[in-house]
Amino acid sequence: MKTFNQIKYLILLFILPALYAHGQRNNFTPGEIWPDDKGVHINAHGGGIMYQKGKYYWFGEHKIAGGAGNRAMVGVHCYSSKDLYNWKDEGIALKVSEDTTSDIAKGCILERPKVVYNKKTKKYVMWFHLELRGQGYKAARAGVATSDRINGPYTFIKSYRPNAGFMPISPAGTPDAEKVDCANIKNRSEGFFCRDLPGGQMARDMTVFVDDDGKAYHVFSAEENATLDMAELTDDYTAHTGKFARVYPGRSTEAPAVFKRKGTYYMIGSGTTGWDPNPGRWFSAPSIWGPWTYHGNPCKGLKAEITFGGQSTHVLPVQGKKDAFIFMADKWTPKDAIDGRYLWLPIKFNGDEMEIDWLEKWDLTVFDK
Ligand code: GAL
Repeated sequence: MKTFNQIKYLILLFILPALYAHGQRNNFTPGEIWPDDKGVHINAHGGGIMYQKGKYYWFGEHKIAGGAGNRAMVGVHCYSSKDLYNWKDEGIALKVSEDTTSDIAKGCILERPKVVYNKKTKKYVMWFHLELRGQGYKAARAGVATSDRINGPYTFIKSYRPNAGFMPISPAGTPDAEKVDCANIKNRSEGFFCRDLPGGQMARDMTVFVDDDGKAYHVFSAEENATLDMAELTDDYTAHTGKFARVYPGRSTEAPAVFKRKGTYYMIGSGTTGWDPNPGRWFSAPSIWGPWTYHGNPCKGLKAEITFGGQSTHVLPVQGKKDAFIFMADKWTPKDAIDGRYLWLPIKFNGDEMEIDWLEKWDLTVFDK
């Protein structure tokens, strides 16, 4: 019969190291290094997550070391996970092109990729913010790629500025500020809108949201980042229909993340201070077309005024848990882009109000309370 001490010794000697060797994690530690199944810090910045058949797939910008890492030298990295804590490297889902004349030529800027599944075409559709190589942030285009397999390889289709020639819709209740009359421009953001009307609206920070009815929307910073556009995608999700609304015009929102809860649409975004963090902002609306109500910063507590050092990228509904949404943000390190960190925090609801608090360490049981 072994003594209790002997058993404790055996646990320490064999079981703990075995668990450690497998790198099994069972919690989130926001802002810390997050190793994948190979022990390498996850490289999926400005990312989004899609769930399918028991697995989550995380897509994000693959960054390299140094300042050069702010340009796309590799492509979009994909990881998969069954439990959200432990991630398997699935490789590069969309590769940048060696062809210097390609829209996605190596050295372009390719940010905030988001993947959705189209039930009609049975294709995975990836949208991203694209800046052409050597042009800084001038091009301001939306890019799209598709694949028959969730983890790729994705084939690049096209990039462009959306909704050329289309005016925004103004459903009942639309605030006057969101309506534009190019014959009577009232402010700077409307000026940008009308300037870009013939060639299409600028499209920078973005997300894609699929509603319960299968309709998909591309949400992006337009008008020199002054206004968010909420734009409908075609049935196959690879183009814009021309139907869109302007959200919170002239108030410069970036980093949009959209989700739906109990029939209400929610959006979290940031201000526009480049890589530097700023206060987050959240909105809610009874319909995807609005009216979107601004509610201020969802973050509370120390460093809430800088979103705990991060910038929103996605809100993830947790499968199998009621009312469980994870706020995903990036803590950028532009001087050494590859070292960017991920800040994931649970969203708390009080009625229809949301709140995000800092936690050093947490796990999914917070949603069981
Ligand atoms: C941020 C934006 C990032 C990246 C960066 C470049 O505001 O959210 O995705 O574009 O600016 O300065």
